Amino acid sequence: MTRIAYVNGRYVPHRSAAVHIEDRGYQFSDGVYEVIAVHRGQLIDEDGHLVRLQRSLDELQIAWPIARRTLGFILRQVVRRNHVQDGIVYLQITRGVAPRNHAFPAHHDSALVITARPGPPFDPDQARRGVKVITIAETRWKRRDIKTVSLLGNCLGKEQAVRAGAYEAWFVDDDGLVTEGTSSNAWIVAADGVLRTRQVSNDILNGITRISVLKIATDLGLEFAEQPFTVAEAKAAKEAFVTSTTSFVKAVVQIDDDVVADGEPGPLAAKLLDHYGRHMNRQLPEAS
Ligand code: PDD
Repeated sequence: MTRIAYVNGRYVPHRSAAVHIEDRGYQFSDGVYEVIAVHRGQLIDEDGHLVRLQRSLDELQIAWPIARRTLGFILRQVVRRNHVQDGIVYLQITRGVAPRNHAFPAHHDSALVITARPGPPFDPDQARRGVKVITIAETRWKRRDIKTVSLLGNCLGKEQAVRAGAYEAWFVDDDGLVTEGTSSNAWIVAADGVLRTRQVSNDILNGITRISVLKIATDLGLEFAEQPFTVAEAKAAKEAFVTSTTSFVKAVVQIDDDVVADGEPGPLAAKLLDHYGRHMNRQLPEAS
């Protein structure tokens, strides 16, 4: 089967899909992106992702390349043309092509690229497997709220995690507080039983999964606080986990060399994962 990508108005074979060498995304990371989960052929939380996309574009003053409604249509086309049932659709918008100059060009035609690829389907049994994270110094720029393709700090962090045999690295700011993972948000169930994740600010990306899990916590009447935590608090926590479009809710059982609680995934992460699965299933056409 030929993989298909969407590039600036055309559906092209993935292997020959290309953008211009003076695309500002390539030269300056001058662009934004979204990763949307595909669950049983359906885009999950499309609205939330497109609202965040709008915000990222606004913050960087990049114009929409096409109407938002048309974007939804093309996203679905790319998913369908690649026969993706479970996986992700990736979209990237850059300020487009211009002679290299740091300042913005006077006018720009935003460039749009969309790809889709299969991935592991939602697995409720994932709740029985925990992962390790390492903690590393926060080295990124101060606008982590924008979902920009400028991800070098994140890539360096993830590489460090992989080399340490870990699933993820948690960034720790100058005050010793965890900001987020290299591609996920960080959570704990603190020693006092309260669910905690850092509040929204320029310090973290406001994950769409994070928003959904907070909503689930509210609906379940769980006690939670949008409040940062230290590495020591995480290591002394009852539970820890990460959330993202691709990880859903994933239990963390080891932080650096320390085991979290008894080293087994905790019940709250499992419960939130279960409810997150239901949240996705409610978006399937057969659910309506
Ligand atoms: N990353 N924080 C960072 C730095 C991220 O890159 C991501 C997602 C998240 C979680 O956001 P969401 O729940 O909306 O996926 C938090 C995606 C999956 C990626 O870059 O592949």
